[in-house]
Amino acid sequence: MNICIVGTGYVGLVTGACLAEFGMNLICVDNDHQKIGLLKQGKIPIYEPGLDQLVAKGVQEGRLRFSSSLEEGIQSSLVIFIAVGTPPREDGSADLRFVEEVAKEIAHWMNGYKVVVMKSTVPVGTARWLKQLIQQELSNPIPFDIVSNPEFLREGSAINDFMRPDRVVIGAESEQAMAIMKDIYSALYLIETPFILTSLESAEMIKYATNSFLATKVTFINEIANLCEKVGADVHHVAKAMGLDGRIGKKFLHPGPGYGGSCFPKDTRALFWLAREKGYTFKILDSVIQANELQKQRMVDKIIEMVGDPKEKIIGVLGLSFKPNTNDVRESASIAIIQRLLERGAIVRAFDPAAMEEAKKVLPELGYGNDPYEVAEGAHGLVLATEWNQFRRLDLPRIKTLLREPVFIDLRNVYDPDHMRRLGFRYCGVGR
Ligand code: UDX
Repeated sequence: MNICIVGTGYVGLVTGACLAEFGMNLICVDNDHQKIGLLKQGKIPIYEPGLDQLVAKGVQEGRLRFSSSLEEGIQSSLVIFIAVGTPPREDGSADLRFVEEVAKEIAHWMNGYKVVVMKSTVPVGTARWLKQLIQQELSNPIPFDIVSNPEFLREGSAINDFMRPDRVVIGAESEQAMAIMKDIYSALYLIETPFILTSLESAEMIKYATNSFLATKVTFINEIANLCEKVGADVHHVAKAMGLDGRIGKKFLHPGPGYGGSCFPKDTRALFWLAREKGYTFKILDSVIQANELQKQRMVDKIIEMVGDPKEKIIGVLGLSFKPNTNDVRESASIAIIQRLLERGAIVRAFDPAAMEEAKKVLPELGYGNDPYEVAEGAHGLVLATEWNQFRRLDLPRIKTLLREPVFIDLRNVYDPDHMRRLGFRYCGVGR
């Protein structure tokens, strides 16, 4: 089957490489010529473990190619996946400008029956709007179908999430489109992946409901952690016991500095906005969004409590990406915390195994170290902001001698508080 993916960002590129691995013929299109140029040279513009090998394999085996021509992509494919960006506007609603542009192009170049698949996360109702838009733009009455096929890819483990998903969600209105989609994902039938076949609106809602629920779960445990600090409880024991309740489940109960990344903040705001537009106040979500903002400030307060007035204090920060195994710093709690410390006059020095280049774009004034020890040297306190594996086995006695003050603020609860205190650190975590 010939498939075109429009947009070679994170979602598009992973989808393209994985579908090629499933045996489909892929053409990945982007209007960013520079990006296509890089991809053609075998260079991957994003950091995602395993993606470079998968792309190289697809290209080598002749099932994956890159192009700047939407005309070529559309005309040579039966299925067109739209995976362009849907950035948030000021008010939190999704900006569908790029989706609209692609829809018009599809209508313009359509040369036969097509299945147009909405892959980017878009507000409920977008698929139906897309259908009308393409219909209006078509000069000849060519049949086509619209499908909503949301992705649930986590950065850092996106390939595994695509190849071994918990479920595949397909929203469609025609049997033909449904059959084509099932065919695309037939490799997943073999591993007994559950398929949810549903309407366009339900598929769109599933994505928002899932991410908003997960963001709520993280926020809930963060608030429990804050309360644990006040009553002298250990949030890890609490979370473990909670998670063993089959109705709750143990994942996403790890407290920290607040969720970040390209999805949770955007999707929670977009769902809240969508609800408001429909005349419904989504109260839980409103609280989640606010509590997550407050969580970052709580972390700043925690740091200040440990190091004192931050003015002219040297603070080392380990981790800049919003979570490990990615170079993505979008809505990273670490970045937000650093910004606030800088505003208070602190001298911040940071290290991240992958995200320093990205961080430099938003925080050029920040000092950067080459490793955790350089960052710790002479600092009044060390903050562990992102739980990269390489921060789990630090040479702690060495860190302690390097630091000016033996202050360790562990925003991801990587270390054992008693052990840290025995080593002579003034230590604090989140909720213990
Ligand atoms: C998320 C969803 O998991 C994925 O299904 C969706 O399609 C895109 O958004 P991602 O943004 O890559 O994926 O990150 P994820 O691993 O889900 O973490 C989101 C945020 O929550 C991170 O900032 C992370 O640090 C935080 N988090 C997660 C916690 O603070 N505690 C947890 O227990 C879990």
